Amino acid sequence: MHVVRIAWVVGALGVGLGAMSSTAAAHTRALQAPTLPDTNAIPPDMVTEGRKVFHSKGMCLACHGAQLEGGPVAPTLKAHAWRDARDGDLSAIYNVVTKGVRGTVMSPRPGGISDPETIAVAAYIWSVSHRGAKP
Ligand code: HEC
Repeated sequence: MHVVRIAWVVGALGVGLGAMSSTAAAHTRALQAPTLPDTNAIPPDMVTEGRKVFHSKGMCLACHGAQLEGGPVAPTLKAHAWRDARDGDLSAIYNVVTKGVRGTVMSPRPGGISDPETIAVAAYIWSVSHRGAKP
């Protein structure tokens, strides 16, 4: 009797954990597949929003400079030989801002910015560095 009950509990737990891990997998997929804009059609509003995030909530300017010129602790984010964000691609910039750079003061999502804010700030940096948009 006891054995049966324990088997049932273990079974139920197994189902529960299975459901949990598939939810986690779906969540991970969602995180890995952000809707980054097509770089040929970045909405100007998104760049404006990204500029705001960079200079306020994200506090990126503290290290990267108000004009993206770089500073004593962090590199410029204008066109340069990218160190972490491979080739300065939009998705690479997004990934660096999302995950940070391990072992450096570049933390994941500085200022606790949301995913849409991360996309906007990445689109802003891309537009300044690749299209000469106003910093
Ligand atoms: C506390 C300082 C600090 C803040 C705040 C900060 N960064 Fe950084 N960031 C760094 C440093 C340092 C690096 C370079 C890490 C390394 O490779 O040594 C870096 C690297 C980067 C890179 C990659 C540059 C490259 O050459 O590949 C991007 C993109 C970036 N930061 C974006 C941002 C954005 C966007 C924000 C705000 C949301 C931000 N950073 C806030 C310090 C900072």
